[in-house]
Amino acid sequence: MRTSCVFLALAVQGAAGFGESQKFLVVSSPATGHLAYAKFPADGSPLAADGQAMKTLIKSGLVFPQGIAIDNHRGRLFVADPNQTGLVMYPLTSNGDTLSVGGSKIIADNVQTRAVSVDGLGNVVFSDEPTSRILRVSAKMIDEGTTVPEVIYDGSAVPSLKSPGGVASDNYFVYWLNKAGAPQAGTLIRGLQYATAETIRNATAGVQMLANNALKCYGVCIAGGNLFYTDETAKLYGVNRAATSRHVVTTISSQLQAPRGCAHDGAGTVYVADKTQNAVFQFAANMDPLEPNTALAKAADLQGAFGLAIFDAGYISPGLLR
Ligand SMILES: *[C@@H]1O[C@H](CO)[C@@H](O)[C@H](O)[C@H]1NC(C)=O
Ligand SMILES: *[C@@H]1O[C@H](CO)[C@@H](O)[C@H](O)[C@H]1NC(C)=O
Repeated sequence: MRTSCVFLALAVQGAAGFGESQKFLVVSSPATGHLAYAKFPADGSPLAADGQAMKTLIKSGLVFPQGIAIDNHRGRLFVADPNQTGLVMYPLTSNGDTLSVGGSKIIADNVQTRAVSVDGLGNVVFSDEPTSRILRVSAKMIDEGTTVPEVIYDGSAVPSLKSPGGVASDNYFVYWLNKAGAPQAGTLIRGLQYATAETIRNATAGVQMLANNALKCYGVCIAGGNLFYTDETAKLYGVNRAATSRHVVTTISSQLQAPRGCAHDGAGTVYVADKTQNAVFQFAANMDPLEPNTALAKAADLQGAFGLAIFDAGYISPGLLR
């Protein structure tokens, strides 16, 4: 009897750890210099624009915030603001209904970054567009205060890295979009996140072109088995994450006007910002195969919506440094 009671208690507590915790959508606006957020419905359904204004998260200190990323485990918010001289980090906390940030800190110096991503280990990957580099600040470097980033890929050694825009990362790979240089440089590129003996000898060895369909692309996100990315005007594309040599790119939507960042909620919905429509849209992304002309529904209104990230407040590990 005693044993079954303990088991029940654990099972109930475990539910919060499996996706039923409170989530928030966080959105940047370079047009206003602000970051704003909206709370997801408690029942786990996707966010729907219902006339409620997003709440302000950050209203001063940033100049032109574009890409954003959130480390759920450490409660860290990263902001790529190319008009600052570095990559900015804020501690992020939730009381269940609202979000707030603490004081900001520069975690990478002397970079001009517009896109940032964080992997499950807290390592932060970002692009430096003018120098065509993909850079990293590891969780350990952040804790130690080391602000000179590691170079993962340098465009002078990698032909398929040219004025990088959006980045995404998992614990094994980094993905980037090029804003110049297609078709030679390609559109969507995947590289090993960590050097192997082969990539140390030859920087192009760990790099693979996944798509070469558009000249200038902005935002990329990983959603289960697929990758989604946006171009300069109108289009959202999807490609299978396991794509190797012959890649079929699907145009998921041509109905956007200036799509920018995208983010997956971890439960089958992808959000995409449109800075011209001043809105964030959503669609069911757990599709296999990818479906062209997918209907997008409005999820939120925000002037100049650009970068997106989802914060799942249930994942914070109290023991980790903030
Ligand atoms: C940001 O920097 C760019 C390029 O230097 C400049 O054109 C733009 O006016 C700046 N934006 C703001 C809001 O300061
Ligand atoms: C580097 O790797 C690429 C891709 O694997 C290969 O095509 C190229 O020949 C290699 N270059 C050298 C100098 O080994």
